[in-house]
Amino acid sequence: MGYNTWNDFRCSPDMNAAAVMALADKMVELGLDKLGYRYLNLDDCWQLEQLTPAGELQPDPVAFPDGMRPVADYVHSRGLMLGLYSCRGWKTCAFRGASAGHEATHARQFAEWGVDYLKHDSCWASGSTEVAFAQYALMRDALNATGRPILYSLCGWSSWYAPQGASLSHSWRISADCDEWANIYVAIRTNEQLAEHAAPGAFNDPDMLLGSAVDAPAHLTPMQVQSQFSMWAVMAAPLLIGSRLLSMPATDLATYTNAEVIAVSQDVLGVQGRPVWSNCPQYDPLDNWWMSPWSMPFDVCCMWSRVLATTAAILTGMATACRRPAPRCAGLVLLPLGIVCALYIGVLWYHRPHVDECQQVWARPLTGKAHALCFINFASEPARVVCDANCLEAIGLSKGTAVQVRDLVNGRNVSMHALDVLEVTLNADGDSALWRIQLL
Ligand code: GLA
Repeated sequence: MGYNTWNDFRCSPDMNAAAVMALADKMVELGLDKLGYRYLNLDDCWQLEQLTPAGELQPDPVAFPDGMRPVADYVHSRGLMLGLYSCRGWKTCAFRGASAGHEATHARQFAEWGVDYLKHDSCWASGSTEVAFAQYALMRDALNATGRPILYSLCGWSSWYAPQGASLSHSWRISADCDEWANIYVAIRTNEQLAEHAAPGAFNDPDMLLGSAVDAPAHLTPMQVQSQFSMWAVMAAPLLIGSRLLSMPATDLATYTNAEVIAVSQDVLGVQGRPVWSNCPQYDPLDNWWMSPWSMPFDVCCMWSRVLATTAAILTGMATACRRPAPRCAGLVLLPLGIVCALYIGVLWYHRPHVDECQQVWARPLTGKAHALCFINFASEPARVVCDANCLEAIGLSKGTAVQVRDLVNGRNVSMHALDVLEVTLNADGDSALWRIQLL
């Protein structure tokens, strides 16, 4: 549990040493630390584009004039832990200096600075699974060799990391960046088949929690913020607040500080929930196939594709506007290039994330003979979602069992003793209900 700067600051120069101190203060002031949000993670852009001649990462000297050690010291002095970001490729996704070939040097730097968490991304690296596993293992071993406990979080945006995840890291990203509701749907659908790979201390990571601040680089509605939080709790996912922290909307704060939902997330049984009822279509994970041989998350790939397509369009226009023989030759090359780029963009557009018109019920077993149940409506119309006898059976419950049902989001008991069909009516576009079923 913690906070990550990416959806709050992106690469803004405002992400600097003073801001990190203010963020640490804010986490304590809001009481987030007491609830378990302990990691303050700096994402991409804390570092320069170039490594030193010795291959070391260089903190941005304007943003972090005294380097990272004092930043870590301050964060620690507030009882929190510091996370940093790097990448297994030759550049980060935002084109800053990265770790390929320098794993040992960078791990030593992280340990010397007092870093407690490393998010290791996957841009500008080979798309082959073997190479990815080997590169991630290099950094795992380098971190272990430092002797400092550093939580290692892989970020390869693909479900195929899950079977290997626990041998490489503490958490592994399974899908695209959650920067809109459609990507949250994609993350949930991707995660539904990966529960068996998670265990206490080793988690499928469907990405950060996205807030509702409309001035943030990406945001949801407050209702969707609530639903993402409930689903992340049931999926035993890392809870990393990835939105405005210094000016968090009151509704987001209320969502993220709901101790009963956090208790589901942190339940020591550590079991990831599964869908026990669904009318959603079969789902095949998108994974990061689109940028082979380069590994790239969908949104970053789209950004670079737009740059490529614009360049190709300008060059094609210039070449075809010229008349004489040499430009005509250039036109022959550039015109097909433009067509290929347009086709590629078309493929990306066709495969863009979308939300299906459907509903699901997820269940997670908890300690003390209890279960958490999340009902969710992805459709664009309100829906009644029912956990019928088959659904109850999938949870291991049967009709007539004596239970107490509690609505965790609203903090009230739903009076029911002999268990019957459970049903709830949900609003359109991502409404949900999170219940705790306690066997009596
Ligand atoms: C990728 C990751 C994001 C973020 C950015 C930073 O897109 O998936 O979470 O770290 O890179 O550039």
